[in-house]
Amino acid sequence: MSDASRPAIEMTGVEKRFGATEALRGLDLAVPAGTVCGLLGPNGAGKTTAVRVLATLVAPDRGTVRVAGHDAVRNAEEVRRAIGLAGQHAALDEGITGRDNLHLFGRLHRLGARRARERADELLTRFGLAEAGDRLVRTYSGGMRRRLDLIASLVTSPPVLFLDEPTTGLDPRSRLEIWDTVKELADGGTTVLLTTQYLEEADRLADDIVVVDHGAAIATGPPDRLKEAIGSQVSVTLANPEQLAATAVVLSALTGGDAQVDVAERTVTVLTVPGVSVLLPSLVRELDGAGVLAEDVAVRAPSLDDVFLALTGAARESAAGSQESADLGRAA
Ligand SMILES: Nc1ncnc2c1ncn2[C@@H]1O[C@H](COP(=O)(O)OP(=O)(O)O)[C@@H](O)[C@H]1O
Ligand SMILES: [Mg+2]
Repeated sequence: MSDASRPAIEMTGVEKRFGATEALRGLDLAVPAGTVCGLLGPNGAGKTTAVRVLATLVAPDRGTVRVAGHDAVRNAEEVRRAIGLAGQHAALDEGITGRDNLHLFGRLHRLGARRARERADELLTRFGLAEAGDRLVRTYSGGMRRRLDLIASLVTSPPVLFLDEPTTGLDPRSRLEIWDTVKELADGGTTVLLTTQYLEEADRLADDIVVVDHGAAIATGPPDRLKEAIGSQVSVTLANPEQLAATAVVLSALTGGDAQVDVAERTVTVLTVPGVSVLLPSLVRELDGAGVLAEDVAVRAPSLDDVFLALTGAARESAAGSQESADLGRAA
């Protein structure tokens, strides 16, 4: 029986090993119904494995997995009926039209011929692909393929949707189109779990972010908390290189971070420490007070690299850091 108060997607202590590789090392996550969860992590973190376990394509070695009220191991068939899945590599037939692809998906999912046609038309119209729908998929751009693949996962109107790196490799405009599609689905009440390597993407789409590294969650919380905990990068470029040292002092004092001086670029950069937000006006005022003439002041939003630096204290290539999970919900 499904229980409305339980998360729509739930993983507890999930482990999965492929030979010597521990792809998942006790992954926990809980996604309330009707929300979007962003599984954020670098290549090899275990994102795809997590999605494959949730979608019942791979059985976990250990731990429990529940999706849409069903145990993913014991009731895999029920789970499959409740989910849609779109991956990084579109599973489309190149030699037929987009519309025929959707029709085929509908038939595969046991819709009647007529209903499958109707559903294909509905989806193409709703997501702005009505005209493109009559062209061969072979002629589609990468972004259109990805959108059609995503739409194909909606043929059965699944209440739970898994999207594995839906925008990796896409140009900015196609990325925005995918984002709009995900937002529309979320607004319609679909529970979405998407994986991504982009903090910005998780920030835009997710109600909650789970940062994964080496097969386990290293932080969980809403995007704002995560960004607060990471801080952002502030850089000041000077007209006069003699003022670099004074600028470094001001930046360190204001942010509590370690200011880095780049003499060649006449720039001082600092990553603000967790919990300290730097307001541009106060920065400008402080620099003024110290007699520093800034040519340019920039505040850059944190990236995935910054996330890993802040959470593990190590750059992500060498992120052998702590596997302890930071609960950002409580930390902030
Ligand atoms: N079928 C498999 N056989 C062997 N190793 C695998 C397999 N699938 C994933 N892995 C390994 O498990 C780790 C996690 O992979 P994956 O889940 O694909 O990460 P991500 O999607 O975050 O890039 C990687 O080290 C990867 O090489
Ligand atoms: Mg992957």
